[in-house]
Amino acid sequence: MAKIKIRKAVFPAAGLGTRFLPATKAIPKEMLPVVDKPIIQYGVEEAIAAGCDQIIIVTGRGKTVIEDHFDISVELEKQLESRGKTDLLSMARHISNLGRVAYIRQKEAMGLGHAVLMARDLVGDEPFAVVLPDDVIDAKTPCLKQMIGVFNDVQSSILATQVVEGPAISSYGVIDGKPCAKNPRVLEVKHLVEKPKQADAPSKNAIIGRYILTPRIFEFLEKTPLGAGGELQLTDAIRSLLKHEKVYGYKFEGKRYDAGDKLGFLKATVEFALKRDDLGEEFRSWLQGLPALKR
Ligand code: G1P
Repeated sequence: MAKIKIRKAVFPAAGLGTRFLPATKAIPKEMLPVVDKPIIQYGVEEAIAAGCDQIIIVTGRGKTVIEDHFDISVELEKQLESRGKTDLLSMARHISNLGRVAYIRQKEAMGLGHAVLMARDLVGDEPFAVVLPDDVIDAKTPCLKQMIGVFNDVQSSILATQVVEGPAISSYGVIDGKPCAKNPRVLEVKHLVEKPKQADAPSKNAIIGRYILTPRIFEFLEKTPLGAGGELQLTDAIRSLLKHEKVYGYKFEGKRYDAGDKLGFLKATVEFALKRDDLGEEFRSWLQGLPALKR
């Protein structure tokens, strides 16, 4: 069978970002910077590094700065060029050269499944990736690239997972699956449920915001009734897909930060800053000298 290439990555970015108020009252949470890069850019760079060349961002009201961010800023480029700031100029050009970006509006915040459904016409009849920008993943091999490696083998939908301990599991989609003999990081999904109570969770394997989905998912998204939180849940549609096709979980290698949450965002900021060549050393010694850490 000819291998199908994953070319398109869908980024749901219409949420209101209420976990990050007041910062997100007028600024999209996707534009909050971890160090100096908006969180959505981490995801877009990951998708490009994984071989996707078409980025589809599902936006909503108040999100137009995301479009500006990935567009060419003629004034900025002119000014940087005339001042000879070549490093900053190439940084600005890098952003507007990050693949082809299409935007579609989700007029009402009706959940992740609904956001993905909005991309149906732009995706068409081919398997595609979904990247939730809140989940910033630091990995040697980009998470989506690892997943595409698995997709090339199984040619089925794949959900990134990680183990989540304790009551926090009820903030996630959770899968129950059987490890594959060939690769213990891959689980054949038997069941999955969105935001179960801890006592009802079928396992500790939480779904993290990276998916590869076959286009048949749209058929089920159309029919899925509203689920947890009164929203159209992607997890519920994947449960219907599972009755017709195999679905796999994949325990990715890397560290994930929930950058849509204040604490997760702070952790990402500190760890990414510590890794930077231009900031890391000074930041580390400043942190080490903080009296507040000595208590
Ligand atoms: C969404 C999904 C959930 C998944 C999570 C990962 O939930 O619905 O299944 O586990 O992302 O970040 P949300 O965080 O949008 O409530």
